Amino acid sequence: MAMPSNVEALDIGCGDGKSTLAVATRLGIEGQVLGVDRQQTRLPDGEAPLNVSFMPADAMDLPNSKLAQVSTLYNVLPGLPNAGAVLAMLRKAAIVSRDFVFVSQVQFDSTPHLIRRGFKAYYSDLTSNRYQGSSFDYLRMLRSLFDEGLIADYALLECERIRDSSDPVIHSLQSPPDSGPYDPSMHRHKTLDVPFSEPIFKRMQLILCKKPAQLGKIARRLKALEKPDNVIYSTMAI
Ligand SMILES: C[S@@+](CC[C@H](N)C(=O)[O-])C[C@H]1O[C@@H](n2cnc3c(N)ncnc32)[C@H](O)[C@@H]1O
Repeated sequence: MAMPSNVEALDIGCGDGKSTLAVATRLGIEGQVLGVDRQQTRLPDGEAPLNVSFMPADAMDLPNSKLAQVSTLYNVLPGLPNAGAVLAMLRKAAIVSRDFVFVSQVQFDSTPHLIRRGFKAYYSDLTSNRYQGSSFDYLRMLRSLFDEGLIADYALLECERIRDSSDPVIHSLQSPPDSGPYDPSMHRHKTLDVPFSEPIFKRMQLILCKKPAQLGKIARRLKALEKPDNVIYSTMAI
């Protein structure tokens, strides 16, 4: 299937299309929004606005040319097998985008903090989350894309603080793998209300900016999609 020529936003690894819909509506995109996924999944007919379409494709097979203004990777990178595959996907997204790449996904920095207290975040124990790199691992990948000249600025942010063990993402370490969010009627007992003194977060965001001096403007625009709580690192003030 041929890639449409006038794509404004490309949602890579769109799955059932919910992330594509969020990009289209919350970023207020009036041009074409295209979701691509190597599995043929998409929003049911009638639920997608007219400017949103879907195409089955492996993102790594997309041509190395500027295909869209922006691209998004929602919950895609943790499913890839290793750091090499993650960096290759980030590089591809940077190559096909004119303005910026936005990545949003669960983060794994909390794992050592939680395990010492007898807890885990359920998504750390999903067998589908094969790559569990830390913020620092991602920072090094962004730095190498910067060194290649592929991106001009970048930022790493986090959101959705986990304050104590009552949070539904938290499970006891005894819970089996592949449990979803905590449900007391289904899952092993966990101790509630244990406070987590260090700030730990559920999600991380990456902004890869293609043009210099645009990062602040793009970060403000992206707040409509998912508001960050904390900037971990940024190459310019945002
Ligand atoms: C966890 S789902 C996320 C779906 C959606 N973005 C969301 O947030 O609901 C990850 C998706 O990435 C897709 N994916 C992984 N590698 C891909 C690739 N190389 N090209 C296209 N899609 C890919 C998978 O098929 C899967 O549907």
